[in-house]
Amino acid sequence: MASLAPTPNADLAPLTTLGVAARAAWITAPETPAEVFEAFKWACDRGLPTLVLGGGSNLVFASDFPGLVLRLALRGREKIGETTEAHRVRVAAGESWHETVGWTLEQGWPGLENLALIPGSVGAAPVQNIGAYGLELTERFESLDALNVRTGEIVTLDQAACRFGYRDSIFKHADGAGLIVLAVTFALPKHWAPHASYRDIEEELASVGVSEPTPHAIFDAVVRVRRRKLPDPVELGNVGSFFKNPVVSASDAETLRARFPDLVSYTQADGRVKLAAGWLIDRAGWKGSRLGNAGVHERQALVLINRGGATGAEILALAARIRADVEAKFNVRLEQEPVTVGA
Ligand code: EPU
Repeated sequence: MASLAPTPNADLAPLTTLGVAARAAWITAPETPAEVFEAFKWACDRGLPTLVLGGGSNLVFASDFPGLVLRLALRGREKIGETTEAHRVRVAAGESWHETVGWTLEQGWPGLENLALIPGSVGAAPVQNIGAYGLELTERFESLDALNVRTGEIVTLDQAACRFGYRDSIFKHADGAGLIVLAVTFALPKHWAPHASYRDIEEELASVGVSEPTPHAIFDAVVRVRRRKLPDPVELGNVGSFFKNPVVSASDAETLRARFPDLVSYTQADGRVKLAAGWLIDRAGWKGSRLGNAGVHERQALVLINRGGATGAEILALAARIRADVEAKFNVRLEQEPVTVGA
């Protein structure tokens, strides 16, 4: 692996949006699928664990990583074809998500604008099935190419094979563990219609006098709302929402609503009810609180922050206290959204 000799003892803090201190025994930045496979073989030969890092926006390091970190640097974006319904656009895993959203709009292929400003890489987007402001990645997803690190084979997975769920996919489960996303193909609609009914976006558009939004107007509105409500990871380390919005039975939601008439909830297609975790945490009194160098954001209680110098353990300790308190007060279990590495 002459072209790509791994570097020892790498500082991981600047490579993640949370920015907690952690080091990797080894790091490498493969630029091609062949280099990704080589890197895996290199680690396997030495009995080392591996970890794939995209934009590092959904990871909490609870300790140092004793193996090889692969910082995917695969680049490239191109239109690969079209159907009567859609532009087919293929983007390599190492591209920035937000820059890609902007690029598709510049090309005249709208459809991803609601997902503007989400930190991270294109390859990470399907792993957690990103979503925001009334749109989920799945609505624009056609397929992806993934490397099977055990065989070196490149496989194409369609929607069904990816087993997408709410902030979930096969890649978060054991049977997807040996698959590394190399590139994602999007189907961007030729007959575009706005998704502008999410309350924050509707209000933002109304506030600037837009009644028939263009894709660019939605993009701008999403960027403004996110800048206002969510901390910029460059200034204040965070991983976005720290918990998933929990889904409970209709009767449990009714019981809660009887006690808390202002409960924020959304009835799902299957009759169950999704609760706003941010509301639960806020209502439990955690918004703006701190524990050591870890804290809860002042404007969005679902976002835990590194106030400077926090360790992963401090962030996880705060998360554990919040979970216990929400469970005690509301009898609702919160599930952590970002992946914990180590400890
Ligand atoms: N709320 C509060 N207090 C808070 C935070 C929220 O009362 O401190 C209430 C809000 O007033 C609102 C409701 O809770 O009525 C929902 O809040 P918001 O619209 O901010 O969205 P969310 O459910 O907290 C989800 C996603 C975000 C995504 C937004 C917008 C999850 C886990 N989070 O947050 O995604 O940007 O919707 O679509 O589904 C992420 O996954 O990292 C992420 C940031």
